[in-house]
Amino acid sequence: KLLIDRIFNGNDAVYGLTCQAVEGAIAQHGADKAVEFPHTAYCLPCYYAVTGVKVKTLGEMKEALGVIKSLMTREHQLDDALMSGVATALCAEFIEVLKYLDGAEPYSEPYYGHLPDSIIRELGVPLVTGDIPGVAVIIGSAPTAQEGVDLVKSYQAQGILVTLVGGIIDQAQELGLKMGYNVRIVPLGKDITSVIHVVSVALRAALIFGNVTPGDAAALIKYTSERVPAFVNAFKPIDDVILAAGAGAIKLGFPVISNEDENITEVPGALIACPNVADFNKVSLEARNIKIKITNIDIPVAFASAFEGEIIRRKDMQVEFDGSRVDCAELVQTRSMDEVEDHKITVVGPDVDEMELGSKNPIAYVVEVAGKRMQPDFEPVIERKFHNYINCIEGVYHTGQRDMQRIRIGKEAYNAGFRIRHIGEVLYTQVKNEFEAVVDKCQVTVYTDPAECTRIRHEVAIPVFDKRDARLENLTDETVDVYYSCILCQAFSPSHVCVVTPERLGLCGAVSWLDAKATNELDPNGPCQIITKERPIDENLGSYEDVDEAVQKFSQGALEHVTLYSIMQDPMTSCGCFECICGIEPFSNGVVIANREYAGMTPLGMTFSEMASMTGGGVQTPGFMGHGKHFISSKKFMKAEGGIERIVWMPKELKETVAERLNKTAKELYGIDNFTDMIGDETNTTDPEELVAFLTEHNHPALSMDPMM
Ligand code: SF4
Ligand code: NI
Ligand code: NI
Repeated sequence: KLLIDRIFNGNDAVYGLTCQAVEGAIAQHGADKAVEFPHTAYCLPCYYAVTGVKVKTLGEMKEALGVIKSLMTREHQLDDALMSGVATALCAEFIEVLKYLDGAEPYSEPYYGHLPDSIIRELGVPLVTGDIPGVAVIIGSAPTAQEGVDLVKSYQAQGILVTLVGGIIDQAQELGLKMGYNVRIVPLGKDITSVIHVVSVALRAALIFGNVTPGDAAALIKYTSERVPAFVNAFKPIDDVILAAGAGAIKLGFPVISNEDENITEVPGALIACPNVADFNKVSLEARNIKIKITNIDIPVAFASAFEGEIIRRKDMQVEFDGSRVDCAELVQTRSMDEVEDHKITVVGPDVDEMELGSKNPIAYVVEVAGKRMQPDFEPVIERKFHNYINCIEGVYHTGQRDMQRIRIGKEAYNAGFRIRHIGEVLYTQVKNEFEAVVDKCQVTVYTDPAECTRIRHEVAIPVFDKRDARLENLTDETVDVYYSCILCQAFSPSHVCVVTPERLGLCGAVSWLDAKATNELDPNGPCQIITKERPIDENLGSYEDVDEAVQKFSQGALEHVTLYSIMQDPMTSCGCFECICGIEPFSNGVVIANREYAGMTPLGMTFSEMASMTGGGVQTPGFMGHGKHFISSKKFMKAEGGIERIVWMPKELKETVAERLNKTAKELYGIDNFTDMIGDETNTTDPEELVAFLTEHNHPALSMDPMM
């Protein structure tokens, strides 16, 4: 009873404050004043998800307060208390959104506050692959700064995304912990109400990936409970307000673990007492049933996916390797069993000790693999993972690929003892771990000798890359016998199926036909299954009886027909984690494409987030389609509607990224030179009428094509 009273009490307090804040804002700005969070298509996402109503003005907020009040029943049952927790969370969202009035930027370094929709979409793939196994929400101050930081780091080392609220942020700063979304430590804000920004991520995930109808609170809670692996760690003292917020978390299925020992009654599996902060990690993972993949690599620094986004600045760098300036290469080569000695690591050339501080050096590593089921087609699939492997090393940073990679080794990693052979160690261990089904033996040679690097690059690697490119060129939807399904995203988007073909990669951009083929080979019962293509229905649409059967089966009946090449007729579904989205632009008869990184407006009158909210959750939405960046220059892009000639607008940066390949395709298909010059971008206009003028001036082919609708 005491616990329930305290929750009611905290809820009443927050509700009272919220009413005052809303009244105060109305008195100052008037009821028609617009309220919104930046970069989201969901207005006040939590309120919208729970009630189905989009609140857009202060006046509407005031009305909504009445709805929140109706959740605050006082029957003294546990569920009344938990619903009061949800009401508390909604109040917190109201208090937070008022901070954003008039386009204000209430949060500055290191605080994040509200997180944009694009981050949630980006989180889709790492969450389903288990790369990010969970989300921790840490509230308050640890007994000591060291204990707090140790806890944060323990989660970080497991790849868990850590969000911080209140005193723990000061403690982390005090001990100089590097924080930021790129290292998976996100300080949300000082006030307890800022916790809503991570709740908002969980609830938007249900809308974006789960196809949950806004307002269907039961479905929403089912989704977060079953599919969002979040949990809360709350340090004592826990006051009534924190307790009420915690009740909201529990209602969403997120257990709360605390070292509070006074005036708290445990709720099994939901509110868990844990006197020792050192045990928080273990108890939390158990309570949320999170399994951690353990990788033991013999290197002197940490290895975890949380370090993938870590950046090493010039001033923090010991040495670098730069393929754009000196000869570098990374290469996988298939060998016969007797040519490879397992776990042999060889370094040819000087080690980091012998390189000048801050110098640019050549590097080339050749990973030789052997195995009965190894195929040369898997070489690029393995090679492309090197970026991820090397990046996951704490204090080491990697970008680029093939012979254009760039690696920085930080001073801290160097001082900890990190040397060249450890790169070999990491490549060896990860290749063996992740490709064990095809790689029986693996040896790594790392060259830093300049003459050897030049030889490897020009005489060994480049000829291999050229041969591979030629093979990829010939790899078309027509020349292969099978396609592949991918259902990895079903963890979040239960009825979504990607059909992956040589000319149409998965919409996340991470799964090409070769990747899918390798995945199928590595795990025959896994996410990628063979789809035959023996019974075509309409070649132009890209429809097949085989494909229809496969999507029916893998979507558990949710989908009946899917075409590969049409955006209008039975288009492929989207889960939500797409790199790009295209949508019909009615004035010009074409389509607009926006990428996830682009935060500005498009000629559709929608931002990327708003366009993205038009599709997702594994549902077919003619006229809008999520896709990978690489698909833009494909001959199969919207082939049924006329192909890439329909593209009338793209953000400038995206246009530049795809220009070379897109122009090549346009030349081949239609004989158009420099097609990208005809495509508008935000530096020309984001207005539909001006866009038509721009397209007319540049003689864009879409203007004379048949209407799409
Ligand atoms: Fe998800 Fe499709 Fe990418 Fe597979 S290919 S990971 S289902 S988006
Ligand atoms: Ni790194
Ligand atoms: Ni996805």
